[in-house]
Amino acid sequence: PRLEQFVDELPRLKTILVNNRKQVTLGAYKIKQKLHRDLAPTPLYAFGTSRGTATYPGPTLQARAWQKSYVRFENHIHDEEPMFTVDRTVSWANPKRGVPTVTHLHGAETESISDGNPDAWFTAKGEYGPAYITQNYTYANSQFPTLLWYHDHTYGITRLNILAGLLGLYIIKPGPAVAAAAAAVTASRSEEHDQEETPAPYNWLPTKSFQWSLVLADKQFFPNGSINFPNIGDSPKNHPNWCSEYYGDTILVNGKIWPYVRVHEQSKYRFRLLNAANARVFVLSLSNPRVSFVQIGTDGGLLEKPQTVSSITISPAERVDFIIDFSPLPVGSEVVMNNSGPAPYPTPTQSLSPVSTKAVMKFIVVQDKSAASQQQKHHDQEMQDSAASQQQNLAAIPSILRKPETHMSIKDAHWRVTNMTEMDDAEGNPIRDLQNNSTWKSPLLIVPVVGSTEVWEFINLTPDAHPMHIHLIQFHFLNQQSFNLSLYLAGGCTFHDLHHHHNRSEFSRSCYTEEAKGPLPNQIGWKDTMLAWPGNVTRIVIKWTSQNGGHFPFDPTSGPGYVWHCHISDHEDNDMLRPFKMQY
Ligand code: C2O
Ligand code: CU
Repeated sequence: PRLEQFVDELPRLKTILVNNRKQVTLGAYKIKQKLHRDLAPTPLYAFGTSRGTATYPGPTLQARAWQKSYVRFENHIHDEEPMFTVDRTVSWANPKRGVPTVTHLHGAETESISDGNPDAWFTAKGEYGPAYITQNYTYANSQFPTLLWYHDHTYGITRLNILAGLLGLYIIKPGPAVAAAAAAVTASRSEEHDQEETPAPYNWLPTKSFQWSLVLADKQFFPNGSINFPNIGDSPKNHPNWCSEYYGDTILVNGKIWPYVRVHEQSKYRFRLLNAANARVFVLSLSNPRVSFVQIGTDGGLLEKPQTVSSITISPAERVDFIIDFSPLPVGSEVVMNNSGPAPYPTPTQSLSPVSTKAVMKFIVVQDKSAASQQQKHHDQEMQDSAASQQQNLAAIPSILRKPETHMSIKDAHWRVTNMTEMDDAEGNPIRDLQNNSTWKSPLLIVPVVGSTEVWEFINLTPDAHPMHIHLIQFHFLNQQSFNLSLYLAGGCTFHDLHHHHNRSEFSRSCYTEEAKGPLPNQIGWKDTMLAWPGNVTRIVIKWTSQNGGHFPFDPTSGPGYVWHCHISDHEDNDMLRPFKMQY
């Protein structure tokens, strides 16, 4: 269906506080939701505290640093089988009947029994996966304030459950003791209401209605409103219903197709943005050159220094935190957030990026007065702007946002190599993507030592970029180095050649085509998902500790263990997913 752009207003996601020690129950339900003015309501799977309140995206859970939160996940989806065609030649949860779900909190430091292991799924009919232990999850929130997200992680059908809507945001706000995070024992008093506490270094950030969370995704629809998930496989002889990447032709933000949002003149806004697409990489830019993105954060928290950038590349599961200062623009100005990301990324092979995917959403600059009446219309107490928040909105962005990390030295690091390959059929159609030629069920090989430092090298031998995600920790991007892929494929160099070649003399004998390139200024920060480019070795540094360098406030060696995988969920579902366990 042809859907007009910018006709629906950007919805604010509902917030549920999870910082008061009371368990919050989130159920997965089948619902119908209107995603566009001219589209019939869409059947979705969605999270909510009850069937009546379930939405896509689900409610935003708001926690505080160093205050534990307790979430019980339930499955109330009574369908006999998943909404989209399951490819039964791809290994999956495979219950007798029903729709299995299990939820992972992405980017969080979590004990593994609460981490949403792919085999810890359960159905509404009381069937359980082999790693199921509990559905009452505890989150430590023992990390720096940032935007995380929760989403389905069921073995072999994560792509179907995420596309159907099983995801939501999770914000860790600064705790009362953020200035001295380690001394956070004092932070356990329960709070009835969420006071907008913003201690340094967060006290300059726009608050209340001057901040928005944005959840991006792309989908395709049938004229009757339901989601079109193509069910003819790329290599039908091998996998009749598995497609290597799902791309849609419409872009949704917060569950509305191409929405618009009114922003207040003379104001700065803070946006926390998540790419919740199955496979699409967005390259975002603003249509008016008088405004730009001032990036202030990455997946795991604030950057050391704000970075003014004209475009932001964000792959599935990554988050970005940025400010837009609309003050150069007169009332009535309109700014479109555009997307120029090719699909597949970075080398488009088919027309998977139709013109319609070039626009994401629109900002309309309005007068002070109409913004105020819009506030009132929503009767949203929490969003009422106090004089203080108005003033804070005018504050300048500091040139230093936080202290640099000092504990990420690679001097004694243990190095690990992963080669990423795509298996193709005789016609060159992808059958599956693999890491070190292993599947989910291959033997467990990675058992890092708690407290140790590791460098992981992703050697990407496929034509696509893969957003690689590791559970449990936030890491740093070390560098990226391109190599001669065809020479490598012709046997002209070996993995050994690709290893550890950082100094010039060795470089001249290797098949690298350049020196290693370090992170861009807006990539120097905490990451949990890193886009590994084709024809490149991408290196990351992992310190197996809590984000502040201290102990995890739980035993990371117990329970069913953790996973790392490509976050193109179509790849993840077809074995680009591996387990790891921690040891002391
Ligand atoms: Cu966002 Cu293993 O997941
Ligand atoms: Cu991938």
